[in-house]
Amino acid sequence: MKVAFFDTKEYDINSFDNFNNKNNLEFTYFETKLNEDTVELAKGFDAVCVFVNDTVNAKVIDKLVEYGCKLIALRCAGFNNVDIKYAYKKIHVVRVPAYSPYAVAEHAMALLLTSIRRIHKAFNRTRDYNFSLSGLVGFDLHGKTIGVVGTGKIGRIFIDICKGFGMNVLAYDKFHSSSDINYVSLDELFAKSDIISFHCPLNEETYHMVNKENLSKMKNQVVLINTSRGALFDADALVDALKARKVGAACMDVYEEEGDLFFRDYSGHILNDDTLARLLSMPNVIITSHQAFLTNEALSNIAQTTSENLITYLSNGFNDNEICYQCGLQDQCKRKRQERCF
Ligand code: NAI
Repeated sequence: MKVAFFDTKEYDINSFDNFNNKNNLEFTYFETKLNEDTVELAKGFDAVCVFVNDTVNAKVIDKLVEYGCKLIALRCAGFNNVDIKYAYKKIHVVRVPAYSPYAVAEHAMALLLTSIRRIHKAFNRTRDYNFSLSGLVGFDLHGKTIGVVGTGKIGRIFIDICKGFGMNVLAYDKFHSSSDINYVSLDELFAKSDIISFHCPLNEETYHMVNKENLSKMKNQVVLINTSRGALFDADALVDALKARKVGAACMDVYEEEGDLFFRDYSGHILNDDTLARLLSMPNVIITSHQAFLTNEALSNIAQTTSENLITYLSNGFNDNEICYQCGLQDQCKRKRQERCF
């Protein structure tokens, strides 16, 4: 099986090369992202392997099918960038549902601690031999209330970490529940939390969950953390709330318009995105460029599961990591019956 990798970085090649040219798998790595302009590169390949900022819309899917591609292998968990409804019965889609939920949960806490203890400012100061403490006053996490939206794999681990800090945890999840988690309504979570961390997928319901209206329901000086998907936050509404001193700090590993920027070096260039530039200008905003997953453990798990996904497809077998728009639906979900989606 010839597989074309898109948006490939050195760290991807390092981990995927352990599986290359074995078990009938042959990998070709492209640096460019997959989109309508680059899809032609997929000619002659049996499968494409894509990441979070590749665009797999209806037009790209049509071209992939025309070129004889039979499988889209996501090397990530989220699949909001793939039109899975359109792909149904045309091309199979597999993903890596979990590679290291610890990596993402730990990164969320790293962002929070960096922000509220001003580590980013102190780091720069002491390098300049500036040992002043002025402006570095933080606050204790112990005893504070944190709201966690989405209590799946990552959200649960994040909750455990927060409990270790002696925080009072409130949670909201549309589907999951667990007796050891204190669930409240989304409005109550917004109203009572000093800090809110988002760990739910991006979909029609969660798009711009942090918007002008919901921001007004939150406590003054609330700290917001987003390690899920950028479009959970309306970035312009966030800028306004930061300027109005409503939001005390924002910690973001993802950004709504990250697709054209993240994973690339634009130092020395002029940033065209005014909203991102405004956010980056604020002392109480920390942005990392979608790196929460980036640990040795996660990279190795991603390469292993993706390769297994490809091999299972080759052997025509059932794959629990296949996804389609009917996943989870009561009667229609074939995966529940251990069958291929189509
Ligand atoms: P998961 O599927 O285990 O958990 C997601 C939870 O969100 C589920 O419990 C689900 O019921 C809940 N949910 C779904 N719709 C909801 C809604 N409308 N309101 C509230 N909760 C809702 O997923 P996991 O592994 O915990 O990942 C969470 C998200 O983290 C992913 O969707 C992905 O976008 C993001 N992610 C980010 C990474 C990064 O590097 N920054 C890496 C991996 C994942």
